[in-house]
Amino acid sequence: MIRKYIFGSPIETGAVVGTSVTDTYEHMTLMDMVYDSTSVVLSYTMEEDDVIYGLGQQVRGINKRGYLYISNATDDPNHIETKHSLYGAHNFLIVCGKKTFGIFIDDPGQVSFDVGYTAIDSLKVTAGGDCVIYTIEGSSLKDIVKQFRKLIGQSYVAPKWAFGYQQSRWGYKDIKDVRRVISGHHDQNIPLEAVCLDIDYMERYKDFTVDREAFPDFEGFVEEIKQQNVHLVPIIDAGVKIEEGYDVYEEGVKYGYFCKDEDGNDFVAAVWPGKVHFPDVLNSDARKWFGGKYRWLIEQGIDGFWNDMNEPAIFYSQKQLDQVFDELVAMRNENLDINSYFHMKDIVSELSNSPKDYRSFYHNMDGRVICHDKVHNLFGYNMTKAASEAFDTIAPDRRILMYSRSSYIGMHRYGGIWTGDNQAWWQQLLLSIQQMPSLNMCGILYTGSDIGGFGGDTTPDLLMRWLEFGLFTPLMRNHAAAGTREKEVYQFDRLDDYRNIIRIRYSLMTYIYSEFMKSVLDDEMYFRPVAFDYPDDRQAYAVEDQLMVGESIMIAPVYIQNAKGRYVYLPEEMMMVRMKSPEEKTCEMIAAGHHYIPVALNEIVIFIKKGHLLPMIILPKQVKTMADVDETRLEWLGAKDDEASYVLYTDDGISKKYTEKSQWKIIKMRNEDIGCGK
Ligand code: GLC
Repeated sequence: MIRKYIFGSPIETGAVVGTSVTDTYEHMTLMDMVYDSTSVVLSYTMEEDDVIYGLGQQVRGINKRGYLYISNATDDPNHIETKHSLYGAHNFLIVCGKKTFGIFIDDPGQVSFDVGYTAIDSLKVTAGGDCVIYTIEGSSLKDIVKQFRKLIGQSYVAPKWAFGYQQSRWGYKDIKDVRRVISGHHDQNIPLEAVCLDIDYMERYKDFTVDREAFPDFEGFVEEIKQQNVHLVPIIDAGVKIEEGYDVYEEGVKYGYFCKDEDGNDFVAAVWPGKVHFPDVLNSDARKWFGGKYRWLIEQGIDGFWNDMNEPAIFYSQKQLDQVFDELVAMRNENLDINSYFHMKDIVSELSNSPKDYRSFYHNMDGRVICHDKVHNLFGYNMTKAASEAFDTIAPDRRILMYSRSSYIGMHRYGGIWTGDNQAWWQQLLLSIQQMPSLNMCGILYTGSDIGGFGGDTTPDLLMRWLEFGLFTPLMRNHAAAGTREKEVYQFDRLDDYRNIIRIRYSLMTYIYSEFMKSVLDDEMYFRPVAFDYPDDRQAYAVEDQLMVGESIMIAPVYIQNAKGRYVYLPEEMMMVRMKSPEEKTCEMIAAGHHYIPVALNEIVIFIKKGHLLPMIILPKQVKTMADVDETRLEWLGAKDDEASYVLYTDDGISKKYTEKSQWKIIKMRNEDIGCGK
């Protein structure tokens, strides 16, 4: 049962596409509510054992209790637990306890979620005065999520090749670099499906251009590597460089498609290329125009993109920079002390992503002029929507890969996300594990984190453990910041171990893809907290570092340096599969309860649920890309059980004809065909 409450005159965000029952807010019974024209405040007293799920891309655990979260899309590379906002705004949460219900706040401005931060037992949600709130009641956690997902519409489907391993680095600058990355993997028989091009491929960081010195025959090069079944995935940034003679800039100015400042001039911010304008992606004409720009790259053979800096990130605005320089000049001959010295540092660092700047430019939402800060969280979403709507015209029958950094609920229909600029810290591996189910609740299914950590120098063991988790994430991408240690797996010794882990991903491809597609088509979560599958088991609610993945398995990644294993909680008896490679595995039944499970650095353990089966592809010796894999050669793992079955989804992996359930097959195996290595 979904109820809708409307406050003030809300902005149409497009987050919701399904139906609900409209109610008047006087009838809101699930939470206490105070509404005045500037804000809506919802309060709820949590019981000791209540668990709060949701909020998508945020810091901290799966259970969100005990902190203050603010939906305010922010470019911040320090995803530490004292931050309040990351790149996305995902205003959905579930209260689970004496009363269990979901709540979605459709408000594109700042929304805060005080989940036991001010007072341990009190949940307080504060939104602006113009918003729509949905409450969802259902028979279970899964049912609440399913209803919510139906409300917000079907999730984005990536082409199947995008489930292969992707390698990225801010710093691959020319054809030579890309060739080196491909041969670095393929010559060593390490699967690799795609190489991402970061900003260095562009001509002076201008969107929809290619540096012709670095890539003299770009189209020919795209074709050359396509022959090897490898895809190139270029980045597109939100800011359009201000440069005379640059067509995107000139057209945007001419048609009035950029965001405006208070005086009606095109708003000037600075990002990678220096001064830029932002395309007004909240305006449907501008969106169509900007989306159309992807055509050129698609015509060069490109079939995947990542949209970046679209919170939108701002290094500085000219206006504020001028003020800061004035202040600095005035301070020049001062004796800077405890206050003035820190003030000087602060005014410089606060230039970036400044709320003042976000309050100083405007969108034209098809006739309604609106200040950016009221709709801040919609920018990345609409940049991605621009591209996706254009793809429907440019390539109507096939899927194009798209993942964005910033997002809002609704964007999940147009693309996936990667979780932004994490760090090469063990703690960030755990964060990535914990973010996955929360993102899935909000419909963001095609997602993953920068494996090994984006910032900082990774270590060989962190990379290995992260790959062992990352092999389950639909987006499996190793990415690194400029200036950090090179971390393509072939940079390290123990190459056999890295190869084996990536090969395990490829051997699980049938399962991963089938489970991803079923989650999309059935509005389910691909990654789930353990309690979602075992709601009657109180202990399952406390599990913060294990996940259910698809219908058949549970994973328990190791995320602590030098750990030789870890404690795992099994809500029921399961079959544990221990693997060093797709070929070297052992299986063992493990009873319900808490167990210490040794897991060597180069091992992966998977727990198969009772009555379920796990298909694994029998890989040939040499696998460079999915093209080398024959998915009809499957072995079936699981406990022998006459009732065990698996629902397999398959399709051509590229067309958009996936809305039919006709491709679903229920597979039942004879007991003698099930087992380890059969
Ligand atoms: C941003 C992105 C990162 C990228 C960098 C350079 O920080 O999040 O992935 O490498 O910009 O484009």
